[in-house]
Amino acid sequence: MIGVLVSGEGSNLQALIDAGLPLAAVASNRTDARGLARAEAAGLPARAFELEQHADRNARDREMADWLQLHDVDLVVLAGYMHLLTPGFLERFPDRVVNVHPSLLPQFPGAHAIDDALAAGVATTGVTVHYVDDGLDTGTVIRQETVEVKPEESLVERIHAVEHRILPEVVAELCAH
Ligand code: GRF
Repeated sequence: MIGVLVSGEGSNLQALIDAGLPLAAVASNRTDARGLARAEAAGLPARAFELEQHADRNARDREMADWLQLHDVDLVVLAGYMHLLTPGFLERFPDRVVNVHPSLLPQFPGAHAIDDALAAGVATTGVTVHYVDDGLDTGTVIRQETVEVKPEESLVERIHAVEHRILPEVVAELCAH
């Protein structure tokens, strides 16, 4: 079963819900993540694990992994989850944590990938779905799709559209394995 981690809007989570994938639980590092409300609306168990409520990141991630496994999660999808996961968390789901990122990694890692691509003046950027390791957007690439930067006004929207299409496709393939 799939567990999804969100920090914000949760539009990628919504794409996974709409694709009818076997989602078991949704967790966040923030109580105010709209993704948690989307999960509840879909009838999914949803819970925030705020850093402030725990001794440290290791303790937080341990509790989050316990909760996910209690819900039979064996594949974790980061859908706009904006915290690095601890090695202790990743060891609980070996080679079963994936992320969607709005650039052609290894170009433009980090939290401002679309702005960074615009600032760099590249003609082409894109979307990457990749395995997560303990680096910042450094894990093995599973799928990439290019997106032309121009017209710039619609770049964000076009990148999100690609995310919402390819993330459910890749997750469905991983579920089958
Ligand atoms: C997406 O662009 C994702 O690639 C990035 O954060 C954004 C999250 O959007 N990591 P949402 O929360 O799924 O709407």
